[in-house]
Amino acid sequence: MSAIRSAVFFLLAFLFVNAPLSQLRRPGAARPGVAVAASREPVRAARGMVASTNKLASEVGVDILKRGGNAVDAAIAVAFALAVTYPAAGNLGGGGFMLIRRRDGRMTAIDYREMAPQAATRNVYLDPQGNLIEGEGSSTIGYRAAGVPGTVAGMELALRKYGSGRLTWAQLAEPARLLAANGFTVSHLFARSLRGSNELLGRYADSKRIFLNGGRYFNEGDTLRQPELAATFARLQRGGAREFYEGETARLIAEDMRRNKGLMTLEDLRGYEAKERVPLRSTYRGYGVISMPPPSSGGAVLIEMLNILEGYDLRGMNWASSEKYHLVTEAMRRAFADRAEYMGDADFVKVPIDGLIDKKYAERLRASINLERASTSAEVRAGRPAGYESEETTHFTVVDAEGNAVSNTYTLNLGYGSGVTARGTGILLNNEMDDFAAKPGTPNAFGLIQGERNAVAPRKRPLSAMTPTFVLRKDGTLWFTIGTPGGPTIINTVLQAIINIVDHDMDIQEAIDSPRIHHQWLPDQIVHEPYGLSADTQRALTARGHTLVARPRYMGDAHGIMIEEKTGVRLGASDSRNEGAAVGY
Ligand code: GLY
Repeated sequence: MSAIRSAVFFLLAFLFVNAPLSQLRRPGAARPGVAVAASREPVRAARGMVASTNKLASEVGVDILKRGGNAVDAAIAVAFALAVTYPAAGNLGGGGFMLIRRRDGRMTAIDYREMAPQAATRNVYLDPQGNLIEGEGSSTIGYRAAGVPGTVAGMELALRKYGSGRLTWAQLAEPARLLAANGFTVSHLFARSLRGSNELLGRYADSKRIFLNGGRYFNEGDTLRQPELAATFARLQRGGAREFYEGETARLIAEDMRRNKGLMTLEDLRGYEAKERVPLRSTYRGYGVISMPPPSSGGAVLIEMLNILEGYDLRGMNWASSEKYHLVTEAMRRAFADRAEYMGDADFVKVPIDGLIDKKYAERLRASINLERASTSAEVRAGRPAGYESEETTHFTVVDAEGNAVSNTYTLNLGYGSGVTARGTGILLNNEMDDFAAKPGTPNAFGLIQGERNAVAPRKRPLSAMTPTFVLRKDGTLWFTIGTPGGPTIINTVLQAIINIVDHDMDIQEAIDSPRIHHQWLPDQIVHEPYGLSADTQRALTARGHTLVARPRYMGDAHGIMIEEKTGVRLGASDSRNEGAAVGY
C-alpha cells in the first residue's frame, strides 16, 4: 500500500516539476507558489454533506438529512453507525465532544467525555511500590481501564436540545441496528486493523469471538455481523438512552465488570451525566475560531498556537519551508508545555483558560522564540498565563441544507479501547482512564507528560486532546469545519489544516492531504510523516537545532466541510490517509 502511494507520489512529483504550471493548475486549486503534491477535488453538494472515516456511516448520515433530519440528527445516526462499522473508535462504550453551530450562528458544545468510576482514586494505577501497573489492571488494558461511557447520554442530550424533532431516537438508531444485524463487508484496511489488534482483542472472550472470528480472523470481503450489538441497539430503541445507564445493558456491563474486578459499577453508570459547555472562541487573522473547552485541551492549545503564529508572516513563507516548520514547532512546544502544566477537568481544578488564550500572553511567548535557532524543551517550561493513536479516535462532520453544522470527535482512546467487549452487549469499552495522569509527571501511552491537575479522581473527566473546530469567515458565517483523530497530534493536525487554508490558500481537501508534523514539548522532537519532509528541509531544521523523527505511519484521519463563498455549495473532504468518504446530496 505505502509502496504504491510513494510510487504515485513520486510520479506526480515528477510530472509536477516537468510540466508547465498552467497545465497543472485546476481552477481554484494550486496557486502560484503553492506546491500541491496531489489532491482530488472536494466532493460538491448543493444541500447537505457528511464526511466521516467510513462510507457506510457517511451514507447513513446523508439519508437522515434527505429524510428531513438536521445536522444534529444526522450526526447522531453517524455516531451510532460508526459504533458498528468502525469499532476501533466509533463507539457506544466511549465518549467525546460534539460542537454544534446552528443556522442562526448560535454555538454550543456537548461534552460526553467518560467519567472516572467512584473507585478510581489517585493511585489506582500504581502498585504498592508506587510504580505504574503494566498490562491487565493498568490504565490501558482490560476492565480497570474503562471510564464510564458517555456516548449514549451525549447523543440523547444533543437530540433533545438540538435535534430537528422530525426524527425519533429509535429512527436514528435503526440504521446502526440494521448494519449490526445484517452485517457489512470487511475491507482490506479493516481486516488488517483487526488482525493487528489480535493480541489485545484475543484476551477477552466476546472480543475474540466477535472481532477475531473466534481466532480465525476476518479477511477482506467477509461479512461482519454483530448480533449482540444489534440487540443492544434494539433495547436502546425501546428504552431510550437511560436503558444504557439503568436497564439491561447497564446490568450486563456492571455484571461483567464485577466478575472481572473492573472499577465500574451500576451506580457509576446511573450517575453518568453529559454536559453542555460554552465553546472557546478566538480569532486567527480576523477569522473566527471556535473549538472545544475543557475537559479537552484541544481548543485552548490550538488557540494558543494560532495566537503565537499570528505574529509571523506565514503567508510570505513557502508552506513547506524550514522557516515555517521552525516557527510552527516553537509554537507547538510552548503550548504543549502549558498543556502539561495547566490543563485538566475544569469542574475539578482551576484551569487558566482566559490567560492561555489571551493574545497578549502569546505575544510574551513569541518574544522567547529565536527566529533562527530551536529552543530546547528543557528550557521551555510552562509560561505564566493570567489567572501518539494507535490514536484511534475518529472525527466526523455534518452540514445540513439549512446551514446547521456539527463537528464531532469521539473515541475509545486507543484502537479498540481496553480490548474488553462487555459480555452479552457487543459493546467495546474504552481505555480512556489512560488519558489521566496515572502518575503525574510520567508519560502516558502517547508519551504525554501531564500534571497534577489531570490526576485521577472519582467522577472526574480525563483530559482530552480532541479538537472539533469551526472556522468562520470575517462576516461571521461558517467557512469550514475540521477535526481529526490522533491523540495529541489531533491539535497539531487541526492547527496545520487551518494554517494551510488561511495562510496558504489551500482548499479543504488539499489542507487535509498536506503532510503533517508534530511536536508535543516532550519528547523534544519533531515527528514527521513518511514522505512529509524533503531531505533538504530536514537538514535545514537539524541545522537550526531541531531533532527529527520519521514516523512509519501517517498522522491522523481528518474530515472537513467548507462552504463555498459565492454559491454556498458544501465542499466535503475526507483524509486520503484512510478509507473515509465525504458524501453529499
Ligand atoms: N483519547 C484521546 C484524547 O481524548 O485526546
